[in-house]
Amino acid sequence: MATRKSVSSQRITLDYNNCLAEAVGKEHGLRPTELDRIERLTPKIAEKLATQRKNGKLPYRDLPYQDDMVASVLASARAKQGQFDNVVVLGIGGSALGTIAVHTACAHPFYNLLADKDRKGPRLFVMDNVDAAQFGALADMLDFRRTLFITISKSGSTAETMTQFLICRQKQIDTLGQKKHAENMIVITDREKGYLRPIAQQEGYETFPVPDGVGGRFSVFSAVGLLPLALTGVDIKNLLAGAALMDGSCKEPRLRRNPAFMSAAIQILFYNRKKPMSVMMPYSQALRDVADWYRQLWAESLGKVRKAGSREENVGPTPIKALGVTDQHSQVQLYREGPNDKIFTLLGVENFGRELPIPEAFEDVAGVGYLGGHTMNELMEAERRATAYALVKSQRPNVTISLPAVNEFTVGQLLYMMEVQTSFAGELMKINAYDQPGVEEGKVATYALMGRKGFAEAKKEIKALKSSKKFII
Ligand code: PA5
Repeated sequence: MATRKSVSSQRITLDYNNCLAEAVGKEHGLRPTELDRIERLTPKIAEKLATQRKNGKLPYRDLPYQDDMVASVLASARAKQGQFDNVVVLGIGGSALGTIAVHTACAHPFYNLLADKDRKGPRLFVMDNVDAAQFGALADMLDFRRTLFITISKSGSTAETMTQFLICRQKQIDTLGQKKHAENMIVITDREKGYLRPIAQQEGYETFPVPDGVGGRFSVFSAVGLLPLALTGVDIKNLLAGAALMDGSCKEPRLRRNPAFMSAAIQILFYNRKKPMSVMMPYSQALRDVADWYRQLWAESLGKVRKAGSREENVGPTPIKALGVTDQHSQVQLYREGPNDKIFTLLGVENFGRELPIPEAFEDVAGVGYLGGHTMNELMEAERRATAYALVKSQRPNVTISLPAVNEFTVGQLLYMMEVQTSFAGELMKINAYDQPGVEEGKVATYALMGRKGFAEAKKEIKALKSSKKFII
């Protein structure tokens, strides 16, 4: 049982010193009055979000407390223990990125390469693309008798996911027969709507619901993320406990006490001050895919057409994923000397779970000898601090979110904080953070080009798009 002290030592923190005018100067830093202005708006927004939640309009906020759903996920995972060598998730966008982010963070860094006895479950493959070379190669390698597929689609009609499903189902039937193939397929989709639900019923697949009103990018704490994670040995109860802890902090109506609200306020204030680029740069290999997950959450939620009276305007910050220290040798030159149009979120980790000493050698060689006697951990931390310092020196505002360690409990806090940050940012920007009409338009065009019934008009329109040979070289 976690004590209060051990819980508080596992809390993630937000340090925003380096984005203030005191640190980076008045031209590029936030003045207290700017934060005061948002602080005055915060109680009202907090109340609005709380009311929406109470009225069932923000169901993602309650996902950390769905005990029955967690019990059914864990029961399913337990029942499958030892039966499969591989779990393959078929899904895209919000149906895939949360699982990838948490698994990369919490599982062994080379999980799929571990021997069966050392792995906490089957290997995990999340297939979020329709590249025939890659998908075909995976299918060639898999033993379909020992592979469990999880098809995830809220709408139950996304062309990419349905294509993957059709290919894998056929291969399963060829290998196992029509009746038995159903034992190796699970479907996660809307409780009622969409084409996948009746297909699952007809084929006799085990199913889990994507909760009503929870969009893909907010679904990591539902069966969408929890089932594949539980099957592959991630401690989902601790993940949800972390999310619940952060929920406590996110109920706080005072801006300066609420990390999600404060982080959103900083992001949007800078967006409005001509810094539309939002870089997330984890100093941890394990957190690299959190930046990818965040990129989708931020982009799909906030990149919108906003009505301003009779006018329409296109708004939204551009999220950019980077990786410390790798991108210090790729992007930091631009970040320091290129346009000052970015706000940086560095992710730091205090305890990497193991320490790697650097052997002492070549003491007389100035450029090498100084490293000996330190640890690789010290080097990583020094580089994170060095980047924060270098950014400050060139007046680039940055904040740091620190995780005491990377584990289910801290990652649960981080992801939940980012989700609430997105809700608050949506309110500040006066847009609907929960729809994605721009994605739907692309989906319709794909249906049309692939010959789906009822989309002939759209096909005509696409075909009418002019392409002159003159401009192709
Ligand atoms: O976050 C979202 O809503 C999207 O990224 C969806 O997850 C993605 O488009 C896949 O949609 P679906 O789950 O309906 O197949």
